[in-house]
Amino acid sequence: QIAYVNGSFLPLADAKVSILDRGFLFADGIYEVAAVLDGKLIDNASHLARLERSVGEIALALPETTDRIQEIQKELVARNNLVNGMVYLEVTRGADSGRDFAFPKSGVKPTLIMFTSVKDIINAPSAKTGIAVITVPDIRWERRDIKSVALLAQVLAKQAAAEAGAGEAWMIEEGMVTEGGSSSAFILTQDDVLVTRQNSSAILPGCTRKAVVALAEERQLRVEERPFSVQEALAAKEAFTTSATVFVQAVVSIDGKTVANGKPGPMTNRLREIYVDFAR
Ligand code: PDD
Repeated sequence: QIAYVNGSFLPLADAKVSILDRGFLFADGIYEVAAVLDGKLIDNASHLARLERSVGEIALALPETTDRIQEIQKELVARNNLVNGMVYLEVTRGADSGRDFAFPKSGVKPTLIMFTSVKDIINAPSAKTGIAVITVPDIRWERRDIKSVALLAQVLAKQAAAEAGAGEAWMIEEGMVTEGGSSSAFILTQDDVLVTRQNSSAILPGCTRKAVVALAEERQLRVEERPFSVQEALAAKEAFTTSATVFVQAVVSIDGKTVANGKPGPMTNRLREIYVDFAR
């Protein structure tokens, strides 16, 4: 497997960064994950736009233009003969000479790394069965709109989900679902309204969420962007999550209680097909 580090393509085992890298010491970095389907990057303009926004919010200058970053992503996909999977990219504020919290004075180049992984998102078993989710308190910081590599809260949330045999953790703040550990959360109400929380600093503005909302609205489906509670989700017709790595993924139970009949619903399946068509 070939990875990219600061201008070089090299075997994954040789792809290394300094122990003084600020990504490692302070989680002072931003990441993106874009899906690859049939060798093509999916919705990548949206991911690169969010990358630019995230780095802007932390005053981190990208070491390459987003056009160049996309070229590197494509070259990495080609070098790995990747058909279906994802490209991970991370940019950090680089390796300084020590451990100063404040930004490096000057001359420290940001670190840019990328690697790919294989995943058959379309035929993933959970695409057919849906997933269970558990709920956990949302203990993250107040700038969740920035796709920061500081993911400890999500690591703990998703580990708790894994231990419970669930596929995702929905995070709860003030009685309302914010989002999943690595996905956006949706429900379909009994009167056929798609509900997902509005973008704000409380959630990451999901690229898949944005595409699904637009695709649903184009088809005259009713969409409301507002918070919803676990009780409302349990009373809903359907529930699902969206992300670059699952596309549209049915949620069939929450904290062990089934949503509707405990099977992926027709609207979820339809939106998944619509999204896959859009992606292709
Ligand atoms: N996670 N919310 C959070 C907290 C996320 O980490 C993600 C993505 C999403 C969905 O965003 P998008 O649709 O743009 O993938 C929502 C990626 C996949 C990850 O951390 O692996």
